[in-house]
Amino acid sequence: MKAILCKSYGTPDELVLADIPDPVAGPGEVVAKVAAAGLNFFDTLIIAGKYQTKPAFPFSPGGEFAGTVESVGAGVTEFKPGDRVMGYTNYNAARERTAVPVEQIVKISSDLDFERAAALTIIYGTAYHALAHRAQLRPGETLAVLGASGGVGLAAVELGRIMGARVIACASTDDKLAFARAHGAHEAVNYDKENLREALKRVGGEHGIDVMFDPVGGPYSEPAVRSLAWEGRHLVVGFAAGDIPKLPLNLVLLKGCAVLGVFWGQWVRHDKDAYKSAIDRLAHWCADGKLSCHVQQVYPLAETPAALKALADRKVMGKLVVRP
Ligand SMILES: NC(=O)c1ccc[n+]([C@@H]2O[C@H](COP(=O)([O-])OP(=O)(O)OC[C@H]3O[C@@H](n4cnc5c(N)ncnc54)[C@H](OP(=O)(O)O)[C@@H]3O)[C@@H](O)[C@H]2O)c1
Repeated sequence: MKAILCKSYGTPDELVLADIPDPVAGPGEVVAKVAAAGLNFFDTLIIAGKYQTKPAFPFSPGGEFAGTVESVGAGVTEFKPGDRVMGYTNYNAARERTAVPVEQIVKISSDLDFERAAALTIIYGTAYHALAHRAQLRPGETLAVLGASGGVGLAAVELGRIMGARVIACASTDDKLAFARAHGAHEAVNYDKENLREALKRVGGEHGIDVMFDPVGGPYSEPAVRSLAWEGRHLVVGFAAGDIPKLPLNLVLLKGCAVLGVFWGQWVRHDKDAYKSAIDRLAHWCADGKLSCHVQQVYPLAETPAALKALADRKVMGKLVVRP
């Protein structure tokens, strides 16, 4: 089968398209034919050796997929060949077939297309875990989302709106902000043109921001915390800007606020049943049109490097998918 392989840490251009043997389903696993694999920003890090997960070489990028079960391993009773499924693999989805443990996948109905299904597990799963479980976002609260047109950012905008929050999208270009508004944001802040603290003071009003969704880090996190309301919650989701910021702890004291870590990958391992029910609900919302799961572009497998470069270059709104 064809696979896009990372044979040593490097740039997207160092990935190679190769023929490798088909996988065999081990106990508790299925082998699925991958119809579409979702790419995320962390794929740019995993191939560079800059991510917390360091798979053995060679491996494929692609942490999530949708496709059809082809075979099942010993002990698997809940899936059979022909089932349409989606879920996470952590890596190895950007290939024609992948072996995946059954606790990581769910069945999907025929009204959800494979491309959007491949793109939704990680971003909506993360945003849902962050807003519902970690921040416990309440209707009527103000939610600000940094990187609001990106993968997890757009998911947070859409889910925040569904959960009844007033959503402030923050991003670096007016086009990205128009895109976030089209997906449910009530207000928009361009942090490339305007100082983030000043803009959030203006848009957030006297009360301030109840919940901050921060997948960007770098120079934005400290002004974001300074913009929180009394007893606000700052969600630490990621560091797409590169630098991991340090925070003066007096801010946390003065605002009575909480700084909450969001680690979707650990949560799904700790709470497998909650993961399955959340992802099932999100897949139905996507099939019903409540969530867009916007896929900006579908790339052939051989063009995975171009897709990863677009993510690293900050050019993507929504998600990118590869089709093996
Ligand atoms: N904690 C978890 O469980 C979890 C789960 C999934 C993802 N993440 C993390 O969340 C972050 C975002 O992931 P994603 O897949 O949503 O990424 P994405 O689609 O590429 O979005 C990232 C956004 O960050 C902003 N950004 C600012 N500086 C950037 C830079 N130097 N390079 C690239 N983007 C930059 C961009 O928006 P602007 O141009 O508008 O600033 C971009 O839209 C990553 O750090 C990822 O590892 C964490």
